[in-house]
Amino acid sequence: MYDNNPTLEGLKTMDEARQGSVLFKEHWQTSDAPGLKRFYIESYGCQMNFSDSEIVASILNEVGYVPTRNMEQSDLILINTCSIREKAEETVRKRLRVFENIKKERPGTMVGILGCMAERLKKQWLEEEKLVDLVVGPDAYRDLPNLIGAAEDGNRMVNVILSREETYADISPVRLNTNGITAFISIMRGCDNMCSFCVVPFTRGRERSRDPFSVVAEAADLFAQNYREVTLLGQNVDSYKWENPDTGEKTDFADLLAMVAQVSPLLRVRFSTSHPKDMDDKVLHTMAQHHNICKYIHLPVQSGNSRVLELMNRTYDRAWYMNRIEAIRQIIPDCAVSSDIIAGFCTETEEEHQDTLSMIEWANYSMSYMFFYSERPGTLAARKYADDIPEEVKKRRLNEIIRLQTAVSLRHNQADIGKTFEVLIEGDSRKSDQDFAGRNSQNKMVVFPKREGLRPGDYAQVRIKDATSATLLGELV
Ligand code: SAH
Ligand code: SF4
Ligand code: F3S
Repeated sequence: MYDNNPTLEGLKTMDEARQGSVLFKEHWQTSDAPGLKRFYIESYGCQMNFSDSEIVASILNEVGYVPTRNMEQSDLILINTCSIREKAEETVRKRLRVFENIKKERPGTMVGILGCMAERLKKQWLEEEKLVDLVVGPDAYRDLPNLIGAAEDGNRMVNVILSREETYADISPVRLNTNGITAFISIMRGCDNMCSFCVVPFTRGRERSRDPFSVVAEAADLFAQNYREVTLLGQNVDSYKWENPDTGEKTDFADLLAMVAQVSPLLRVRFSTSHPKDMDDKVLHTMAQHHNICKYIHLPVQSGNSRVLELMNRTYDRAWYMNRIEAIRQIIPDCAVSSDIIAGFCTETEEEHQDTLSMIEWANYSMSYMFFYSERPGTLAARKYADDIPEEVKKRRLNEIIRLQTAVSLRHNQADIGKTFEVLIEGDSRKSDQDFAGRNSQNKMVVFPKREGLRPGDYAQVRIKDATSATLLGELV
């Protein structure tokens, strides 16, 4: 995640920077098998979408579809889409032009739109895009085999029904594009928060939590397959709640974290995303008690100004947010905190923008994902407020935010020089096969020269010698 800390030059391509980090773009591929039907899937957007693609792969496997790395040879091309910003949707539209060419050469190829853009635009797809055979929303993936069957008969099929219950708890995901060491586990779906800028509650529906025992079983299964790190995913993990229908026993997020941490002391546990309004001290104490729960919290602030936060309907103010950071500092002193920030939200003044800058400095974020506001049709903000900050002002403010965060990240990383960290080796570093790369508990990427006998999946003690704003460089001790 740290390799893509956005730079000033990256300003015009913030979404691209993000795609390499929390928001990935993935062209996923694997083995070909003759005689079987083949599907090819590309995923865009957040980790949740990537996790969903693994569920889709599992459902398709059950009905005899095998994944292929070769789009040209596939019978079914799927694109798991994101609607979070306009740019994300434009990227998907561009990919469709590529699929169109393939369909011209192989007219039998089916094309399916999955995910958040399927949900947002629903039937409209069939009018707008003649190449689309299937439109399937995030809660309808179990219906894929039926829909594909009907599409094979020449029908164009849509299922975008959102569910109050679906968690895919019983489906064992087929791990796509995996490093074999780290994996995602979805613990909940949807979001009930209604932040005024955000399209997610509309594309993903109501919040619901997954049976904790199925989460623990999935973590234990991954550990047995030699995975060493799981990231528990939800739009707002702190509001995880589950009640045992038989005993009435309740499980909250802190309880779930402890349960997963007990799978093995060698299995690291991460989670994303935390919401400042819900992140309580119980979670922090649970983190402090378990060595293998990583000391890293992604706690998006969005804005440092209380009036803007109110317009955003974030339901906390600057003082509340600062109190949460202070609680983290007190209970988990070695914890790193990162953020998401939106520049140029409706009516934001220069002074209010300064409050965001001062928050970055005060909170001392190890890194942030930074965006300028992109109005999304149908959201509260689109209906209630004018998108009145000119684009050049949004970009200039974003530029200032990125410049400051880059300096704060560098300072944060330089403070680690001389320290020794436990690093989970994930594989070769991007730049050299003589070096390993892995992350420390604080989620910082650490690169260090290899030593014989060490392999991906091992824990190494690494002393930090140097740092950039994105990476720590060290040596084994
Ligand atoms: N559930 C998470 C975030 C999900 S979306 C949370 O509440 O923090 C990831 C990030 O995209 C958000 O944190 C926000 O910073 C950004 N984002 C969402 N909608 C946006 C919009 N309309 N314009 C610009 N950025 C947006
Ligand atoms: Fe969107 Fe807010 Fe829900 Fe996050 S918490 S997904 S920003 S509505
Ligand atoms: Fe995008 Fe949907 Fe995730 S809008 S950020 S893929 S929940």
